[in-house]
Amino acid sequence: MQEKIIILDFGSQTTQLIGRRVRELSTYCEIVPYNKFPYGDQSVKGVILSGSPFSVYDEKAFKTELDRLRGHYPVLGICYGAQLMAYEAGGAVEPAPSREYGRAILTHIEEADPLMADIAVGSQVWMSHGDTITRLPENFSIVASTEEVAIAAYRVSGEQTWGVQFHPEVFHSTCGTQLLKNFVVGICGSTQSWSAESFIDSTVAALRQQLGDDKVVLGLSGGVDSSVAAVLLNRAIGKNLTCIFVDHGMLRKNEFRNVLHDYECLGLNVIGVDASQRFFRELAGVTDPERKRKIIGKGFIDVFDEEAHKIKDVKWLAQGTIYPDCIESLSITGTVIKSHHNVGGLPEKMNLRLCEPLRLLFKDEVRAVGRSLGMPEHLIKRHPFPGPGLAVRILGDITPEKVSVLQEADDIFIQGLRDWGLYDKVWQAGVILLPVQSVGVMGDERTYERAVALRAVTSTDAMTADWAHLPYEFLAKVSNDIINQVRGVNRVCYDISSKPPSTIEWE
Ligand code: XMP
Repeated sequence: MQEKIIILDFGSQTTQLIGRRVRELSTYCEIVPYNKFPYGDQSVKGVILSGSPFSVYDEKAFKTELDRLRGHYPVLGICYGAQLMAYEAGGAVEPAPSREYGRAILTHIEEADPLMADIAVGSQVWMSHGDTITRLPENFSIVASTEEVAIAAYRVSGEQTWGVQFHPEVFHSTCGTQLLKNFVVGICGSTQSWSAESFIDSTVAALRQQLGDDKVVLGLSGGVDSSVAAVLLNRAIGKNLTCIFVDHGMLRKNEFRNVLHDYECLGLNVIGVDASQRFFRELAGVTDPERKRKIIGKGFIDVFDEEAHKIKDVKWLAQGTIYPDCIESLSITGTVIKSHHNVGGLPEKMNLRLCEPLRLLFKDEVRAVGRSLGMPEHLIKRHPFPGPGLAVRILGDITPEKVSVLQEADDIFIQGLRDWGLYDKVWQAGVILLPVQSVGVMGDERTYERAVALRAVTSTDAMTADWAHLPYEFLAKVSNDIINQVRGVNRVCYDISSKPPSTIEWE
């Protein structure tokens, strides 16, 4: 049985991060809403209570049955989680005299405490709370303090229960990884056996069990998630998996051909469908970005559905959904963070059962699984690319001619990033075709042609992004190459906006 840590989510922005940190300790964990603890699941080795946007004394504050956790499992409360346990046991939690955000230094540590093992006085921790525990209940004792916060960490005697008011999961808590390791490995007894290989073995076995001899279809996009899902399923059920890769005409230069070739080399049973003419027809004259997205989304579903119906007796639709997508859709505070759903509506339309073998993995874990499955590095490290593709990088209406101009310029930029060793240093990059013409001079001729913008950003999750500070020499070379080689472009700009307030894509 796969041992696991349960992270009860009280709605904090950093809950996912706790999950990632635990996984980095080669320990499997699941994030579940605060009121959905899997009582009775024998594989649970310990529980972490997350932070929350609420105060424990708010009327709307999220509560959970602490008496069914404390004393039954090792428990670590983080921030709100720590305050909740102290408050419910009769301690006092009050608004901090000054809200505490940012770094603090541990000035006192109870060295013999197992949660504090190998953590030194002077370690930096990251505080982010408006409330603080001012009095501990009976049986609770302090195990760490900072200058400002006497009760920075506590322990409950006679049980395996701890609380920390700081955030060990964030990068700026320098002792955070050690503290989580002390809890997960030292206290909960994780055997640290979770790895890409163990995931592949157990998932392949589970997929065989789940799918038997059933037939499955999967839509490939060229992106990492759907590709890894396909290779994993292929390992489990071989030719019973049919992959469909639709060319909507808005892909990068030669992308359709190259990626199809990669898929074939990986042994996938893949059908490539060139539906570009249909999409060009439907997009003609459309300028509104959301309309473009809708047309492409719907067109994709229709083409996929048509193709899938040609295969007999399909029972399952597989998708490369990953953990952050699931957590976002479970979001307990109701804040919708992501609104891009490429193939939203596909499962409903097709009336098939859903199979999502990567739904519990973070992006970096998906990559690790891909590597373990022997997939080529260029597929695994591929930049994210929007589902509607170049359609949202052509401002204004779309024509085959504009797509072709943009493909050429984009190809020079992306190839340049690769040649200069910059591709892996940026999160994503591309060129935008602007609805602007400007005057130029080439030879003795006056020109009046298009302008393009180069966009390259650094990011860790696409929620925030900074413009990539690419070397001037590189930008100069790319600009020169585009203007000399791409007919119809006589001006190149570089986008130096960060997100927020801008977005990564222009549309
Ligand atoms: P923005 O432009 O919102 O983009 O900063 C954030 C990330 O999402 C990608 N993106 C999309 N992906 N369908 C997608 O599958 C879309 O309609 C879409 N719009 C933006 C974008 O490339 C970036 O990675």
